[in-house]
Amino acid sequence: MKTAQASPKEEAPIVDYRVPTESERDVLFRMILDQLGGQSEGAMAFLGMTAEQFAQVYRATGEVRVIRADGDEVGYLWIEERDRALHVHAIILCSGARGQGIGTRVLQALQHEFSSRVDAIELGVQDENTAAIRFYERAGFQRVPVETAPGFSIMRLPL
Ligand SMILES: CC(C)(COP(=O)(O)OP(=O)(O)OC[C@H]1O[C@@H](n2cnc3c(N)ncnc32)[C@H](O)[C@@H]1OP(=O)(O)O)[C@@H](O)C(=O)NCCC(=O)NCCS
Repeated sequence: MKTAQASPKEEAPIVDYRVPTESERDVLFRMILDQLGGQSEGAMAFLGMTAEQFAQVYRATGEVRVIRADGDEVGYLWIEERDRALHVHAIILCSGARGQGIGTRVLQALQHEFSSRVDAIELGVQDENTAAIRFYERAGFQRVPVETAPGFSIMRLPL
């Protein structure tokens, strides 16, 4: 994927997607592991998985998309529709594309796309990722009091 250094825009970007190549899917997997950092072991222990099993689940579960904003390729999305909920397993924008409203547009586009098929959008977020938590809260997500991996919270947006 070529990455775009999108410049700030006055108007909300138009978001669409394309199917990633195999190597792009691998790139997102590495980004997810980087994002988990030192918490990846705890998260996998909670899931009862080894790193290799987690990699297999990643390959077999849901759908990975390349995110485009106004035609520029800006990041990745890993989603799964299950049990009347859309699970956002990962949304990661390249660093030059953050803070310009693209993530907000992605969440709005997902609500629009899935509102007739699911009752909620759900995701897990690291408690230390306070910027992302603020971002989700602003979009209307609330923390759900369920047990999850140490250092993580589950957030939910009813549709
Ligand atoms: C979280 C993320 C998807 C949000 O998308 P975005 O396009 O940057 O967000 P928007 O521009 O629509 O909204 C801005 C808000 O996003 C949040 N945000 C989170 N990480 C950010 C970052 N690295 N840069 C800028 N804003 C960020 C902030 O809360 C910001 O609001 P603020 O003005 O109060 O600081 C994106 O910043 C990202 O990919 N971050 C790194 C990966 C990540 O943390 N993913 C979520 C894991 S659960």
